[in-house]
Order: sequence, then C-alpha cells, then structure tokens
Amino acid sequence: MSHFRIVVLLSGKGSNLQAIIDQVSVGDIKAEIIAVISNRPDVMGLQRAEKAGIPNHVLEHTHFASREAFDQSLAQIIDSYEPDLIVLAGFMRILSDVFVEKFQGKLINIHPSLLPKYKGLHTHKQALENRDNEHGATVHFVIPELDTGKNIIQGIVPVKADDTEESLAKRVHKVEHIIYPKAIQWIIEADTKQLSKPSTFYLDK
Ligand code: GAR
Repeated sequence: MSHFRIVVLLSGKGSNLQAIIDQVSVGDIKAEIIAVISNRPDVMGLQRAEKAGIPNHVLEHTHFASREAFDQSLAQIIDSYEPDLIVLAGFMRILSDVFVEKFQGKLINIHPSLLPKYKGLHTHKQALENRDNEHGATVHFVIPELDTGKNIIQGIVPVKADDTEESLAKRVHKVEHIIYPKAIQWIIEADTKQLSKPSTFYLDK
C-alpha cells in the first residue's frame, strides 16, 4: 500500500477521477486516493468514488453564505485527510486566495485548453470559433490567479473541420485521461526532470 495520499475535488461526471482510479489500480500511479469531495450532490463522480470504495463527501457551496466560508469548510475536510496532493478534476468553483495559498504547491488542476489560451469557461467553443488547428488540455499547479500556475504537461489534439463542441470535448477528454495520471505520477516521484519544464503529449486521432 502506497503512502502518497491524494484527495480529488470534483463537481460532475468524474471521468478524470476514473482515469486516476484506473491508473492507481494497475499500479501506474503509486498512491492512494483517500477521499473525493464534490460541491454538487448526486453527480457521477461520487458514484465512481463509491464504487471504488473511496470515502466521499458532498459539500454544497449553495449552503454557505460566502466563498470564504465554503472554502474554510472544504479546507477542514481536506486537512482531516492529511493529503500529499489535492487534485482538481472538473471542480467548477473558483477557490479563494486564502485557500489556494494554504495548499499551494500541492494543488493541481486540469483545464480544457492549451493555456495560456482560453482561461475560464467555454474553451471548446472558443477554439472552434477561432478556427484553431489544435486544441487540448493543460495540467498545472494552482496559484491564486485563475488558470495561470506553472504548467506540468499539455495534451494536444487536432481540431477537425467537422468538429462540434461535443466531438471536440470528447477528444480533449481522451487526452486528459492520459496526461493527468502522468502528471500525478511525476509529482509522486518528484520527477524534477519532468516537472522543471512543461511536457507536451500529442494525441493524433
Ligand atoms: C474536464 O474537461 C476538465 O478539463 C474541466 O472539466 C472537465 C471535467 O470532466 N475542467 C475545467 O473546466 C476547470 N476549469 P470530468 O468530470 O469528466 O473529469
């Protein structure tokens, strides 16, 4: 049993969580996912955690008067698990500076664009509207400024002439499921060679 402890935060489908669960189970990620926390109830990500036997929590942001109050409760739950790494996997909440600064260095995110392009929402739509040839996803360390921390790896996919937002999102998801587990394992290994400069992974299909 590994001693590296991961907490995953999500808000929805949890396909990235599943990719991480799968890589942990085959031993390609040498860690244990010790908890999954969702800010939304009844999402598929929670079902995936349950099925994998991972303790899971719902912390509904709508029950809190302020972002700071929500983040404080979130930090308390996270602290109770003493994680080495906090993985944002489709966690669709902006985190307060206090929260980010508390966990900075062990907080990572995956964003569905080739950052610094398309921070924020509707990234696939923007890539299509701008007729980009390439699109993708970025795994990066989280800092208070949104979608801006140091990149660890980017996954690049082609944009096809007949792509819709859905077909493009599907291709990006596919590359996300490759790059996120890779990035996590590099961090576990503290692989300074991989972490010191951003890597690129091309998915050609
Ligand atoms: C992923 O595409 C991820 O990049 C995106 O949410 C999706 C979650 O999918 N994250 C963001 O947009 C963060 N700003 P999943 O729930 O199936 O893993």
